[in-house]
Amino acid sequence: MAGRASVMPPIFFLALIVSVGFVSFAEERALYMVLMEGDPVAFHGGSRISSREDGRRLDPNSEVFKAHAKRLVDSHDQLLQSALETRSYSKLYSFKHIVNGFAVHTTPSQAEKLKAAAGVKLVERDRGAKLMTTYTPEFLGLPQGAWTHDGGDDRSAGEGIVIGFVDSGINPTHPSFAYDPLHPFTGNISHFLGSCETGPRFPASSCNGKIVSAKFFSAGAEAAATLNSTVDFLSPFDAVGHGSHVASTAAGNAGVPVVVNGYYYGEASGMAPRARIAVYKAVYPTVGTLTDVVSAIDQAILDGVDILTLSVGPDEPPEDTVTFLSAYDIAMLSARRAGVFVVQATGNQGPGISSVVSYSPWAVGVASSGTDRTYPGSILLGNGTKIEGVGLSGPTFGYGLLLHKLVLAKDAVKADGTFPRTPPYVEECQYSEALDHNVVLDSIVICTFSEGFYNGTSTLTAIINTAKGLGFMGFILVANPAYGDFIAEPIPFVVPGILVPNLTNSQVILQYYEQETHKEEKGFATRFAAKAAIGEGRVASFMGQAPVVSRFSSRGPDFVNTSRTPCDVLKPDILAPGHQIWAAWSPVSASEPALTGYNFALQSGTSMATPHVAGIAALVKQYNPSWTPSMIASAISTTATKYDTNGELIMAEGSGIGSTYPSSHFDFGAGLVSPSGALDPGLVLPTGYEDYISFLCSLPEISPAAVRNATGEPCNNTLDHPANLNLPSITLSALRGSQIVRRIFNNVGSKPETYVCSAVSPNGTIIDLCPAWFRIAPEGIQELHIQVKVTQAMDDFTFGEIVLTGSLNHIVRIPVSVFPVSISK
Ligand SMILES: *[C@@H]1O[C@H](CO)[C@@H](O)[C@H](O)[C@H]1NC(C)=O
Ligand SMILES: *[C@@H]1O[C@H](CO)[C@@H](O)[C@H](O)[C@H]1NC(C)=O
Ligand SMILES: *[C@@H]1O[C@H](CO)[C@@H](O)[C@H](O)[C@H]1NC(C)=O
Ligand SMILES: *[C@@H]1O[C@H](CO)[C@@H](O)[C@H](O)[C@H]1NC(C)=O
Ligand SMILES: *[C@@H]1O[C@H](CO)[C@@H](O)[C@H](O)[C@H]1NC(C)=O
Ligand SMILES: *[C@@H]1O[C@H](CO)[C@@H](O)[C@H](O)[C@H]1NC(C)=O
Ligand SMILES: *[C@@H]1O[C@H](CO)[C@@H](O)[C@H](O)[C@H]1NC(C)=O
Ligand SMILES: *[C@@H]1O[C@H](CO)[C@@H](O)[C@H](O)[C@H]1NC(C)=O
Ligand SMILES: *[C@@H]1O[C@H](CO)[C@@H](O)[C@H](O)[C@H]1NC(C)=O
Repeated sequence: MAGRASVMPPIFFLALIVSVGFVSFAEERALYMVLMEGDPVAFHGGSRISSREDGRRLDPNSEVFKAHAKRLVDSHDQLLQSALETRSYSKLYSFKHIVNGFAVHTTPSQAEKLKAAAGVKLVERDRGAKLMTTYTPEFLGLPQGAWTHDGGDDRSAGEGIVIGFVDSGINPTHPSFAYDPLHPFTGNISHFLGSCETGPRFPASSCNGKIVSAKFFSAGAEAAATLNSTVDFLSPFDAVGHGSHVASTAAGNAGVPVVVNGYYYGEASGMAPRARIAVYKAVYPTVGTLTDVVSAIDQAILDGVDILTLSVGPDEPPEDTVTFLSAYDIAMLSARRAGVFVVQATGNQGPGISSVVSYSPWAVGVASSGTDRTYPGSILLGNGTKIEGVGLSGPTFGYGLLLHKLVLAKDAVKADGTFPRTPPYVEECQYSEALDHNVVLDSIVICTFSEGFYNGTSTLTAIINTAKGLGFMGFILVANPAYGDFIAEPIPFVVPGILVPNLTNSQVILQYYEQETHKEEKGFATRFAAKAAIGEGRVASFMGQAPVVSRFSSRGPDFVNTSRTPCDVLKPDILAPGHQIWAAWSPVSASEPALTGYNFALQSGTSMATPHVAGIAALVKQYNPSWTPSMIASAISTTATKYDTNGELIMAEGSGIGSTYPSSHFDFGAGLVSPSGALDPGLVLPTGYEDYISFLCSLPEISPAAVRNATGEPCNNTLDHPANLNLPSITLSALRGSQIVRRIFNNVGSKPETYVCSAVSPNGTIIDLCPAWFRIAPEGIQELHIQVKVTQAMDDFTFGEIVLTGSLNHIVRIPVSVFPVSISK
């Protein structure tokens, strides 16, 4: 379960993985999250923590609040004392703000006893929490074009909005998080009550006005593993880099120069550079637990964040409950109930179907795409052929004038016989001791992808160290026929270097090398006559087709339990850039040695896509302070685009390297997020907390008792079909005959507008809309009946959309995904 990329042979990812594993406990103690009967403090007696909507907010310092919190904690302790044997457990947290429950470290048999205890609603084993970055370091560059939308503009850059980040912490001294006294904040965040914890590398001055709150949650991590104080700082300090990356993408200052190895790559800016940052550290280099993540969410909601960003989470569905009712999803539901917009990574388990780890309709699940920026690198061979590759490094000395000796690592092994020529670590350039200094000095050395990279024990860092130590002019890492193409995500190299992941291209280099290299009978090289030069690899090119859904991005359909039968909710919800994103980093870089010392890193993952949407949500919230989370989510979805920079349907990467196919809603949700569209959507589809409960109550897989156990709510109402939850998407996972789906729209525009309704029917169906057009006043409400009828049974989902075109140019799109099972009921 350690964070190795799960790759499908013959595709190999160059393994530089954030390894936030989770130890397995076999017979030993494990972490369990327990939900209890009774209201948490936030929702006690009808009160609620709500940042803006009703202005009534609970004061956590009030006597009433404290008294109820204490009652809950006492009840948790009493339950543990009465149900479990003494010394068989330790309580890690009492959750009391938005969920009533606790986390306990105990044995499986004790956990069984808890399940039977009075007042216990749910007992769930902690599946661990991971950072959702799979493909790590890459080029340098910066979110440009569409992604710098609103960067630097005070009026619309997130003033007065607090974004909460549950992640690996933050690097407080990074310029992306600096407070500029010449440019003080004007937004009012009196609704936010966070505060700062201090500790190693996190002095009180870290909360500087840009960072407005910082806390850390470690009881789960400390119970699950032995923490290493050199990297697992018990403070909000980010030793990984991931949390800083995510925070700066959403809310980093505008115009921060990105300089790596002395090379200037451009300027960095968050999506909402004037938003404030609240840090909730819950994942450590050694381990991440859901227990700490849920505890962090509980605190963030209590503090009053406006937006909650979750680039963390379990990477597999829960075993002990349905997806929607896990403790993690219930915590997100409580956040929504408290008026907080929740955005989460959909996961990096793509491109297989039903690989999403974001399930619930109350959180926005973000898929990842690339941008149109690439960093093309190249090698020039002595015979004039140029080969493409990737590497964020400068050129070899005298590029354009000088070629340098080319040497295959295997042919440069010391002749004294101390090292054999063939082991993988030799051809992979992992050990400088094995190579003859005289042969490799000032040469371009060809290293070969082999077993060590395949199994994750070899690293690019080791190649770079070998290259520096022995004075290589540069290095080339070529693909190996035994392993096929690999996926290269470049990192900045301090020495000229390039990765050639394409086997065909690699073969050309090797063929040229063998032709020019003289060898004696036993195969030892006697004269190296092959020559080459490595070109500049740090200059961005903005030519690529974009966006393309990233291979790793998890795919729908959504599902309810581990048998992964599709359900009637669309996941992912939205697409945002998450491939090769430049943002802030932590020089400690405890999980990625290749990035140690760097202040910026190019990263990939749905982790990187998620904060783009968080930042855009902050812009929407600032622009429309009274909007509820579901209104913001609706605005973001209905204004998304399905088309790429060429005006064609956005493509998605498939499992074969270089393969793409036209995206469906299960790849990109509603499509690529459009910040300017989301600010002014015309219509929104509102959904409230009670609606989510009614939705849960209408699912055949979930009993009313299970809903009550998880949420504390009785099934007062059920929807007559789960697809009638008022989402900005329609999903019918098993349509027999026909079905009428209802949607309710609210005009958030300032003028009356006339909308014409049209549908692109998914194959095998015909959609009828009623009414065919309508006129709607500002703040008016309109119901739309959508009849979906099967005309031909299909053997898979088919896709279409509903488009409402307004007379004032608002266009509202609703993705439709249907599995037409049979013509008759
Ligand atoms: C901020 O908002 C609060 C509540 O709306 C209000 O009481 C307070 O006066 C405002 N502060 C400033 C500086 O505008
Ligand atoms: C703790 O982390 C440091 C830095 O990564 C490492 O050198 C050291 O070996 C680790 N200690 C243990 C006990 O794992
Ligand atoms: C990985 O491959 C290297 C190089 O062949 C080998 O030395 C090492 O033992 C392998 N490790 C594992 C865990 O398979
Ligand atoms: C250079 O050598 C390679 C390998 O033999 C060959 O494929 C390529 O065509 C050669 N280029 C030129 C320009 O001759
Ligand atoms: C999942 O739900 C389906 C009904 O949709 C049910 O048939 C199946 O048994 C459930 N599987 C598990 C593992 O609970
Ligand atoms: C590898 O390179 C060859 C020749 O340049 C090209 O035809 C092929 O499509 C490339 N393969 C991939 C997966 O890009
Ligand atoms: C269910 O009904 C009860 C009693 O009328 C009410 O207090 C509660 O808020 C309702 N819950 C939902 C989710 O509608
Ligand atoms: C709900 O909780 C009760 C009491 O703790 C338990 O007996 C029951 O099995 C649970 N029901 C479901 C469906 O989870
Ligand atoms: C619908 O079916 C037609 C004919 O089978 C096919 O060409 C087309 O690609 C399908 N469209 C979609 C969106 O699946």
